[in-house]
Amino acid sequence: MTEGFSIQDLSFEPLSKENVPLDFNCGDKDLDDFIINDALVHQDANVAMTTLVRYRSEVVAFYSLATDCISLDSNEKGRIRKEYRIPYSEFPALKICRLAVCKGFQGKGIGRAMVYDVIGLALDLQEWMGLRFLSVDAYRASEGFYKKLGFLFNHHENEIDPRGETVSMRFDLQPIVWEEREI
Ligand SMILES: CC(C)(COP(=O)(O)OP(=O)(O)OC[C@H]1O[C@@H](n2cnc3c(N)ncnc32)[C@H](O)[C@@H]1OP(=O)(O)O)[C@@H](O)C(=O)NCCC(=O)NCCS
Repeated sequence: MTEGFSIQDLSFEPLSKENVPLDFNCGDKDLDDFIINDALVHQDANVAMTTLVRYRSEVVAFYSLATDCISLDSNEKGRIRKEYRIPYSEFPALKICRLAVCKGFQGKGIGRAMVYDVIGLALDLQEWMGLRFLSVDAYRASEGFYKKLGFLFNHHENEIDPRGETVSMRFDLQPIVWEEREI
């Protein structure tokens, strides 16, 4: 099924009532339940929009996005304050609400391709609106994935999950910072 797989063969499409992947299985029950039962409802309510990733005829991954506003603690916002003399504590962000790759296709670069797709979208949006960060509440088991792609931890108390199930992370979209990264 994954024989001859190439990242170039992936295609991206919006979720609609015609293409809900009813057999999606990424190994996480909540994420599977979300894409099968809830994503369309969130989309209809305009609270999170979902993009599906298709390989050949199969939906192999998805991500859902919404707008966000993140708080940075005083150390974290220091650089922005120094560089631009902007005193804010909160910054506009695009949130990766959910992101998952189905079991048989994990570890093939699809997660990375989806985050790059979101970065491309965010850079387009920056022409029209203030948008400084990508944000994500990462499962503890996947924080290493986001770290690898250049996300940092958010330490502001507003961003800490009281249940400790997720960790708040952010990716700085500022081009100068971005160019310095090797992602
Ligand atoms: C986490 C997940 C999205 C990663 O997607 P993926 O397509 O398997 O990851 P990629 O192949 O694009 O990996 C990109 C890089 O991240 C690394 N990576 C992937 N998953 C990782 C993890 N859980 N921890 C640490 N590093 C990870 C890979 O080794 C790879 O590094 P490399 O380029 O040096 O080889 C996917 O495994 C998944 O859907 N898991 C179950 C659901 C989940 O946890 N979703 C995230 C919710 S916040």
